[in-house]
Amino acid sequence: MAVDWATHLPTMYNFWDNVVFHTNQYSGNPMQVHKEIHGLHNFTPTDFKQWYQLFSQTVDELFAGENSELIKQRALSISTMMQIKIASGQSLLK
Ligand code: HEM
Repeated sequence: MAVDWATHLPTMYNFWDNVVFHTNQYSGNPMQVHKEIHGLHNFTPTDFKQWYQLFSQTVDELFAGENSELIKQRALSISTMMQIKIASGQSLLK
């Protein structure tokens, strides 16, 4: 699967902006998107560990403070929920 970064990056900016600053500019369904990706190529627990390691390392390299801690916490909890949903194949949240 090829990622179109020119489209994907602005989507990610909106997603994380909304998580931290409640800007309301993101209107997708990440859980559904990742379930579909999982159908093409299985995510493993190691993938999620590596994802979080890179995410938190990058946040720590670039930022410090309350919002840095908040975004890392949210990343971990969304990632955990994503893994549970993918593993169970259930729709717990939209
Ligand atoms: C193993 C870890 C992960 C991998 C490999 C992964 C990979 C991907 C891929 C391939 C896409 C689609 C890009 C495209 O549209 O071309 C995507 C979209 C996205 N991912 Fe992930 N992802 C991971 C974990 C996460 C986590 C933990 C979060 C949130 C905390 C997240 C948030 C998003 C969002 C918001 C989108 C955009 C969905 C949309 O189109 O609305 N991802 N990801």
